[in-house]
Amino acid sequence: MTRILGLSAFYHDSAAVLLVDGDIAAAAQEERFTRKKHDHHFPINAVEYCLEAGGISAADLDFVGFYDKPRVKFDRLIETYASFAPSGFGSYLKALPLWLKSKLHLPVEIDRALGHQYRGRYVFADHHESHAASAFFPSPFDDAAILTLDGVGEWSTTTLGHGQGNRLRLTHEIRFPHSLGLLYSAFTYYTGFRVNSGEYKVMGLAPYGEPRFADLIRRHLIHINDDGSFWMDQRYFNYCAGTTMTSEAFHQLFGAPPRNPESLVTQRDMDLAASVQVVCEEVMLKCARQLHKMTGSRNLVMAGGVALNCVGNGRILREGPFDRIWIQPAAGDAGGALGVAQLIWHHVLGQPRTARPADSLKGSLLGPRFDREQIKTALDAQGAKYTLIENEDRLLSTVTDLLLQEKVVGWVQDRMEFGPRALGARSIIGDPRSPKMQQTMNLKIKFRESFRPFAPSVLADRATEYFELPKHADSPYMLIVAPVQQQQRAPGSADAMHGKTGIDKLNVPRSTVPAVTHVDFSARVQTVTPEANGRYDRLIRRFHERSGCPVLVNTSFNIRGEPIVCTPQDALRCFLGTEMDALVIEDFVLLKQDQPQMSASQAEAYKKSFTLD
Ligand SMILES: [Fe+2]
Repeated sequence: MTRILGLSAFYHDSAAVLLVDGDIAAAAQEERFTRKKHDHHFPINAVEYCLEAGGISAADLDFVGFYDKPRVKFDRLIETYASFAPSGFGSYLKALPLWLKSKLHLPVEIDRALGHQYRGRYVFADHHESHAASAFFPSPFDDAAILTLDGVGEWSTTTLGHGQGNRLRLTHEIRFPHSLGLLYSAFTYYTGFRVNSGEYKVMGLAPYGEPRFADLIRRHLIHINDDGSFWMDQRYFNYCAGTTMTSEAFHQLFGAPPRNPESLVTQRDMDLAASVQVVCEEVMLKCARQLHKMTGSRNLVMAGGVALNCVGNGRILREGPFDRIWIQPAAGDAGGALGVAQLIWHHVLGQPRTARPADSLKGSLLGPRFDREQIKTALDAQGAKYTLIENEDRLLSTVTDLLLQEKVVGWVQDRMEFGPRALGARSIIGDPRSPKMQQTMNLKIKFRESFRPFAPSVLADRATEYFELPKHADSPYMLIVAPVQQQQRAPGSADAMHGKTGIDKLNVPRSTVPAVTHVDFSARVQTVTPEANGRYDRLIRRFHERSGCPVLVNTSFNIRGEPIVCTPQDALRCFLGTEMDALVIEDFVLLKQDQPQMSASQAEAYKKSFTLD
C-alpha cells in the first residue's frame, strides 16, 4: 500500500490531502479547523485529520509532497525586487525574515510538524503543475486540454497543456508580472474589497454594472493577443514594487483613489466590476480556443484561482470549442495539495490511471464526518434541544415541511466539502421560490451585503428545465454560471430591468426561482445526483415531489468572514448566533424556538470574531 501526503501552505489556503494507492482518502483545508479564513499556516490540523481518516501515523507515509517550489519562488521575489529597486526594497526586507524562517527550510518545518516520525522522500512540484494535476487526474477524461490561471506561483501565472492517460505536460506559459489573476485582484483592491477573497464579490457585483471601462482597460492596462497571451503595463500596478495592487497612474486613469472599504458601493464600482469581468472572460475564451487548436482534444480541464470565475467558465462551456469541461472545485492553492500527491502517484511512481465516468473526486466530500455519539455529545454540552429522527423518510418530510414554510435550514450531513463551495454537506438551504429569501439570508443569516446572489442546487436530471446548460453538461461543483431558462423568467422582467440601475435591480421580480436568479438572469448552478450527493439529492427529490420545484437555495454554512462550519459545535454556534430557523445535523433536528437564547452580547461577539472580507 502506498500512502502519499500532499500539502499546500504558507501562501493562502493551506491544505492537506491523503492519497492511498491513488485513491483520494481524505482532503481538507486548514481554515476549517483553526476557524481562520484562508489560513496560510502549516496545515497541522488538516494533516492530523488526514492521518486519522486513513488510520495511520506519519511513520506510515511513503511520500510527502509540497505543492510548489519555495526556492524558485524566492528567486522570483529577489529578481522582482532587484529590478524594481530601490522602490521594492522595503517590501523585500519585510518579506525576508518569514522566508528565511520557514519557507526555505520546508523539510525541516514539515519534519517537525510530523513529529519527526516521517522517514521518506520529499517531493516539491511546480506550482502550476500541481494545479494542472489537480484538474486533470481526478477528471472524467482520458484526454483533455489543460488550462491553469491564477495570481502567481513561482513564475507562471497562466499555463496551457495536455493530459493523456497518466501523464500531463505543460507546454506554454505566461509569466509574472503578467497575470490575469493579479489584474482581477487589482480591481478587487481598487473597488474596496479584500484581495484573495473579495474577487467573488467583484464577480457578483458585475451584473449590476455596465462594462464602460473595458476599452480603457484594454487600451492601457492589458494588451490581449488573439491566442490568449497578454502583456500588462506595469506602470499601472504596484504589486511588484510595493504592498498595494494599483499605482497612482491607475488611480489617475480611472479618475479616483481606491474605494474606502467602509463606504457605499456605487454604480461606478459596479461598472468597474463589469468591465474587468468582461476582459477576464475575453482572455479565458481566447486561451480556451488556442488550447483547442493546440491539442485537438474535445475536453478541457481547469484549475487555479481564476478557474473559480464561474461566469467565465459558463461562457467557455457555451461558446468555447470544447464538448465538455471539468473544473477542480478546490481550484485555488488548496487544490495544489491534491495535485502534488497525484503527480507523485502517476509521474514519480508511474502508476496507471483510469478516468471514471463521473470523476474520482467523490463529490468533493472528503473532509471529516461526525457520528451520532459525537453529535449528541456536542449538542448536550450546549444544552441544545433536539429531536432524533432515525427514519430517513420522516426526516426528509420534516425538513421539507420547514422549507415549504419559508424557513431557513442549516444542513450538516456526510463528509465536509473540500474547496471553497458548500455542496450540500455544510450548507444553509431554503425555498428558492420565496421572494424574500435572498434578503433574509443575506441580512439576517449571513450578515453580508444584500447585492450578493445565492446559488441553486438542482436535480441533475431536471437542470435544463430551469437553466440553459448544454445537453449532458453538468456542474457538480457549482462552478458554472448559466442563464435561467426563458420559460422560468417573470413576464416583462427584462424590460423592467432596463429602467433600473444598481441595487434597485434587486427589486425586479425575476423568475419562478427569484432567490437564485441574479439580476442579469444568470445562476451559479450546482447539479445534484444520487451517486455524488446521497441524502442531499433525496431531500431535493422530496422537495420537488411536494412543491413541483427541483431546486433549493444553497449557500455555505457560515457568516460573513467565517470559514464554512466543520464540526457540530461550529454549526450549533452559527445556528444560535443568527436568525436561522432550524438546524439538521445528520439525524438530529433542532428548531430555533426550542433553544436557549444566545445573549445579545454573545451573538455580537460571535459576529465580531471574524475579520470582514
Ligand atoms: Fe495558485
